[in-house]
Amino acid sequence: MEFSRKKGLHGEITIPGDKSISHRSIMFGAISNGLTEVSNFLTGADCLSTIDCFRKMGITIDVTGSHVLVHGKGLRGLTAPKEILDVGNSGTTTRLITGILAAQHFDCTLDGDSSIRKRPMRRIISPLEEMGASIQSLSGNDCAPLSIHGQALKGIQYNSPVASAQVKSCILLAGLYADGKTSVTEPEHSRNHTELMLRSFGAELTTNGKTAVISPANELYGQKIQVPGDISSAVYWVVAGLITPDSEITIRNVGLNPTRDGIIEVCRQMNGQISISNEHTEGGEKVGNITVKTSDLKGTTIEGSVIPRLIDELPTMALLACFAEGDTVIKDAQELKVKESDRIAVMVENLTKMGADVEGTDDGMIIHGTSKLKGAVIDSKLDHRIAMTFAIAGINADGITKVEGAECVNISYPSFYEDLDMLTK
Ligand code: S3P
Repeated sequence: MEFSRKKGLHGEITIPGDKSISHRSIMFGAISNGLTEVSNFLTGADCLSTIDCFRKMGITIDVTGSHVLVHGKGLRGLTAPKEILDVGNSGTTTRLITGILAAQHFDCTLDGDSSIRKRPMRRIISPLEEMGASIQSLSGNDCAPLSIHGQALKGIQYNSPVASAQVKSCILLAGLYADGKTSVTEPEHSRNHTELMLRSFGAELTTNGKTAVISPANELYGQKIQVPGDISSAVYWVVAGLITPDSEITIRNVGLNPTRDGIIEVCRQMNGQISISNEHTEGGEKVGNITVKTSDLKGTTIEGSVIPRLIDELPTMALLACFAEGDTVIKDAQELKVKESDRIAVMVENLTKMGADVEGTDDGMIIHGTSKLKGAVIDSKLDHRIAMTFAIAGINADGITKVEGAECVNISYPSFYEDLDMLTK
């Protein structure tokens, strides 16, 4: 797909539902008693992979547009799948579902695409093994395909070496089935959707600082869930609005959970004109509208506890930094290397092709702002966040930018190009 320079982006966008919350609504609904009704569900490919996996384990799930009904069968109601569970491109599906599968009364195998087959799974295999689980990486490289032999589990106290909500959630879900309490302590706070939502489904779960503790459950109960818009999808319009001349964009109904709102803080630090309106709480999650205007930006340092609060937005923030005066340093973000692609290497390679002045480091990037990009051919590596970031780069560059593999946006934002057309026409 090709992009060329645009200016004067004006309009209002309602972005699709949050990916993390959509995944969890299906998983928690499936292992609860009764009906879970989900509104504004994200029908991106990743969340459809989660639905597909649970359907293969006997759960009826009705999808009508973004409205989903999950007919839960309770904590012990899943049945052995007859086929391999296909997680597609989804790390969240893989890691969270493994926590549930480790405790079932059946065996199964999980597999996914070529990117999933490179994502590290030792981070969940080790704590689950400590709980008594039996999980094998069939290629012997600690990646998928994973063969899982369901077992009785015991509660553990786990000190996670990474701030990862996927790791934390995997262990907490296994903890629902354990013989005693399970706790997870993280080095920094990661997103807390599992804690908030599991509690609303009736789980006994407490948090104390960076530690979450779950008790074994007898039953969970189906809920009504209103999924807020995904701030990780809003970031493309936030950055587009800040860097494209003569622009003002409002993004409606965005989830602003404090464990996810790092871009608001960093955009302000960079002198970005960004404001929040109509703030309210829906189903325990903070929601509001974000308005951004073209701004004179300055470089900053993005590091420490803010990193997990904007981890998926960092590639797009690196693009933003190209348009800021001075240097921006991204540190403590080594997790970027193990996402759908190595997002440090891929950002540095592609931004450099477009004429940006950027260096990769071991745990991030250093971007020397120049405010000048030129069109190039961009290999998205089929990473949805890379494809969307370079679409926004392309409308702010001289000449033509061609993004290869552009269709991969369907992973998290199937209507991305329609929204872009709407804003640029
Ligand atoms: C997610 C957690 C994050 C994030 C991913 C979704 C989740 O991954 O990058 O896109 O839904 O829990 P990590 O927990 O591995 O950092």
